[in-house]
Formats: sequence, C-alpha cells, structure tokens
Amino acid sequence: MQIAVFVSGRGSNLKTILEHEKLKDLIKVRLVCSDKPDCLAIKIAQEYKIDVRILPKCFDDKSIDELLNTLKEFDIELIVLAGFLKLIPYKLIENYKNKIINIHPALLPSFGGKGMFGMNVHKAVFEASVKVSGATVHFVNEEYDKGLIIAQRCVDISDSNSPEEIASKVLEIEHQLLPEVLLKFAENKIKIINGRVFIIK
Ligand code: GRF
Repeated sequence: MQIAVFVSGRGSNLKTILEHEKLKDLIKVRLVCSDKPDCLAIKIAQEYKIDVRILPKCFDDKSIDELLNTLKEFDIELIVLAGFLKLIPYKLIENYKNKIINIHPALLPSFGGKGMFGMNVHKAVFEASVKVSGATVHFVNEEYDKGLIIAQRCVDISDSNSPEEIASKVLEIEHQLLPEVLLKFAENKIKIINGRVFIIK
C-alpha cells in the first residue's frame, strides 16, 4: 500500500512508520507533505529520500487541485496525518473518502477539536485530573478530530505529575497503535459496517 504522510512537527510517528519491521514490506511512504518547510519531520523524510511537498499556508482551489494531482501521480491509497495541524479541505476529503486518517494524543471524543494539539491536549488532560489518557486513530472528516474512530489504546496516568509526563506516556502508545492500524489497512482488514468501524482479526 502506498501512503502519504502529512506532518507539521517533530515527526516521531513518521519515523516509527518508516522504521517498523513488519510495515516495511507492506507499506511504502511515497510522499511527505508539510505546511512547515523547516520542521524536523521534513528532515526525516529527506534522510529517507522520500519525496516532499510543501503545502501553502492557506489552501485555495488551485493549491488543492495541485495537491490532488500530486497524490494521484504518486498513486497514494491512504493519507496519514501524523501531527499535521491544518484542517483538511473538503475537496480532499471528498476525493479520498475514508482514506484519510489521523492520530490524536488523547481518547476522543474528549480533548479534541480546534486548538487541541500537542501540549495543549496534555495540559487539558492534566488540569482535569484525568486518570486514563491514550491515543486515538480516526478517519478524517471536515471537522477537527470528529471522524469515525478506528482504534484507541489507553494508558494509566493516575500517577503522572506533569503534562510532559503524560505526553511521553501517550507518545509511547501512539508509536504502537499507528503502525498496528496501518498494518490492518494494508491487509484490508478495516471495515465500516453500519456506520461503525471494525478491525477484522
Ligand atoms: C502526536 O502526539 C500526534 O498524536 C499529534 O501530534 C503529535 C505529532 O508528533 N497529532 P510527531 O510529530 O509524530 O512526533
């Protein structure tokens, strides 16, 4: 399966995908797209000699069509948002229906939505004195963090003393969950039945 990964930051999820032993034979990262030309994730993509496209600050019809053409040109079957901060334009969602997924560092539908990214999420989780957090992989629709949930994994944070400690526990979980979900996509084992997502064992 050929995928594109959209990134805006440090790229640890991208790196995990690229280095995952089981994924190597099944998934090819053909393209990395970013709205942040200087982010660490772009450097990782370059190290791995993956084609990179820098996206505009604001999408307009022309840039969306250009992106769609690029995705077609690279035969992209699945788009993975791994720390990508921009809202995905509707035209892209329409063209890649149920083929765009995102990883979120909390248990949705809590602690999601506009502005809920990076440490903002973990600070909110910490301030609410939440005992369990985790990671969610979900389909992307036109609203932030609102698409159907594909998979979730939780982690006990009852003893965590800071948002940073929560972030690091959650990141560890993300690095397990995202490759596992990608493996299931590659094996065509993710199905939507009656509006619910099922992962076939
Ligand atoms: C992750 O916590 C992911 O859940 C969120 O943004 C962060 C990206 O981290 N959407 P990285 O760039 O993959 O290290």
